[in-house]
Amino acid sequence: MEKRKINTTARGVDTQANVEDARIEGSLRPKSLDNYIGQKKIKESLKIYIEAAQKRGDSLDHLLFYGPPGLGKTTLAGIIANEMGVNIKITSGPAIEKPGDMAAILNNLQAGDVLFVDEIHRLNRQVEEVLYPAMEDFAIDIMIGKGPTARSIRLDLPKFTLIGATTRAGMLSAPLRDRFGMIHRMEFYDVDELCSIIMQSATVLGVEVDEKGAVEMARRSRGTPRLANRILKRVRDFAEVKYDGVITEEVAVTALDLMDVDKMGLDHTDRNLLMTMIGKFGGGPVGLDTLAAAIGEDSGTIEDVYEPYLIKNGFINRTPRGRVVTMEAYHHLGLEAPASDEE
Ligand SMILES: Nc1ncnc2c1ncn2[C@@H]1O[C@H](COP(=O)(O)OP(=O)(O)OP(=O)(O)O)[C@@H](O)[C@H]1O
Ligand SMILES: [Mg+2]
Repeated sequence: MEKRKINTTARGVDTQANVEDARIEGSLRPKSLDNYIGQKKIKESLKIYIEAAQKRGDSLDHLLFYGPPGLGKTTLAGIIANEMGVNIKITSGPAIEKPGDMAAILNNLQAGDVLFVDEIHRLNRQVEEVLYPAMEDFAIDIMIGKGPTARSIRLDLPKFTLIGATTRAGMLSAPLRDRFGMIHRMEFYDVDELCSIIMQSATVLGVEVDEKGAVEMARRSRGTPRLANRILKRVRDFAEVKYDGVITEEVAVTALDLMDVDKMGLDHTDRNLLMTMIGKFGGGPVGLDTLAAAIGEDSGTIEDVYEPYLIKNGFINRTPRGRVVTMEAYHHLGLEAPASDEE
């Protein structure tokens, strides 16, 4: 019953899930913590909490994962359920419209189960309110009857673990956020980690990749496993048609250049964003909404999807007055950086 946003734009480096990913992601998802590459800090604390909970014969505390799309939030939720030996029920914020729907889902859980709520920041207020007592006291309050004879009864629930995922921790209401025992920020992956993920996926897909080929694909994957897997598949297709099927550095470079993904993983959308900031706004500062209007994109998408990687790589800075293009960006685009008048 997972209802997720499926992205249909043709952007080569889009990190959001698309139809093609949905088909293969299942088989590429690691099933155990040991096969889950990277996110060391999160993994270490999870290992301890899982072991402790198992020793006590208890359920795990509620967990919240946040970070840009494609970094492995859904995968991790599945792994946790697996390691705990419990069922996972998957749903998403926008899929639950009425408080009664949420109550029904909660009421169907068994002791220890994991309830995974993707895009949890998109739950509406009334639905969210059902979660408060459920998370805190493992109970729901149900209204019986209408008008003056209405009364509320409390229904006990089995102990369960709520795992929430969101690209925007800032949009979560404080009462909901406070009810999570652990809040983890997902980090972008480094080139080594992405290489391991690519090698692991290559084995599953039966693709031959040499080390330099893997490094080249990893570098251009924007720190994002989903993108690394998608790039692997595209480059494989290219290798099969134009070469002998083996992904070497030459094959990877040629294929990725054709896909218009540059050495840092930026594509035309990123370059357009940076060029617009430079050309129309003198490099900034420019407000998010103004920028969104200028490139015809939704400001939320810029904030959640495009910008985090550009900020992480030091191409954009966030300032109180708006976004600013950095010297790095000018260099990367092969442009002369303006003489700074502030220094
Ligand atoms: N740590 C990892 N090790 C190996 N593969 C990973 C890892 N993290 C993610 N992946 C791969 O990346 C793909 C995308 O991961 P996932 O769907 O969990 O991302 P997500 O954070 O839930 O994204 P979204 O925000 O779009 O829901 C998965 O199919 C999985 O194969
Ligand atoms: Mg997900």
